[in-house]
Amino acid sequence: MKRHLVITEDDSSSFYDEEVNQYYHSHFGALQESLHIFINAGLCSEYLSHLAHISILELGFGTGLNALLTYFKAEEMQKKIYYETLELYPLTPKEAAQLNYPNILDYENVKEIFTTLSSTPWDENVVISEHFTLNKRQISAIGAQYSPHFFNLVYFDPFSPDVQPELWTKAVFESIFNSMSDNAILLTYCTKGTVKEVMRKIGFEIEKLPGPAGKREILRGRKI
Ligand SMILES: C[S@@+](CC[C@H](N)C(=O)[O-])C[C@H]1O[C@@H](n2cnc3c(N)ncnc32)[C@H](O)[C@@H]1O
Repeated sequence: MKRHLVITEDDSSSFYDEEVNQYYHSHFGALQESLHIFINAGLCSEYLSHLAHISILELGFGTGLNALLTYFKAEEMQKKIYYETLELYPLTPKEAAQLNYPNILDYENVKEIFTTLSSTPWDENVVISEHFTLNKRQISAIGAQYSPHFFNLVYFDPFSPDVQPELWTKAVFESIFNSMSDNAILLTYCTKGTVKEVMRKIGFEIEKLPGPAGKREILRGRKI
């Protein structure tokens, strides 16, 4: 993997992958993008507000920013989170240590929590706190198996279909759909017509929502 650290427009860091020529986050702001799409339109969505326990599946752990923000939101909302995330090309400890999230986020023990999330072993359940259990799986999302009817929320965050079309196929969406409970939701930054079509065919109800800075719209799919 050839990648280098970047600072995005809201001063939060991210990586740029030189093989696929893409940022891990929007260059308009990694932090504002993650908060807008995955935390506010996902974790804090009205569809999940009645749940005390939420099981989350993330495709692409990457920098761990979504996991970090989810951890602190779960503490604030006093909800119990099981967070399963897939990542085929993990950052090295040296790369993760370059990210500035602990310096720009104003949460208690943020540095310690970020280091813990980044460095927990792969492929096992790790209890991080009373509210947060993490399972980082170092496998490809292509052909991955999940527990059926289990996840309430999916953070679908691979590189775009232009550079990784193999992650936006009917087969990948179908295996995720089958792993979702009724009324579960999936969030993604991509609103491409072909993606919406595949999702609708499988049975997702699609909503377009306003996007974060620099992006007109995002997608929320619900399993009905
Ligand atoms: C857009 S970035 C994810 C950003 C991440 N959610 C974050 O907060 O930093 C896409 C991620 O998908 C990972 N990835 C690429 N191919 C994959 C595959 N076949 N299976 C699982 N993850 C993959 C990349 O290594 C990268 O970390």
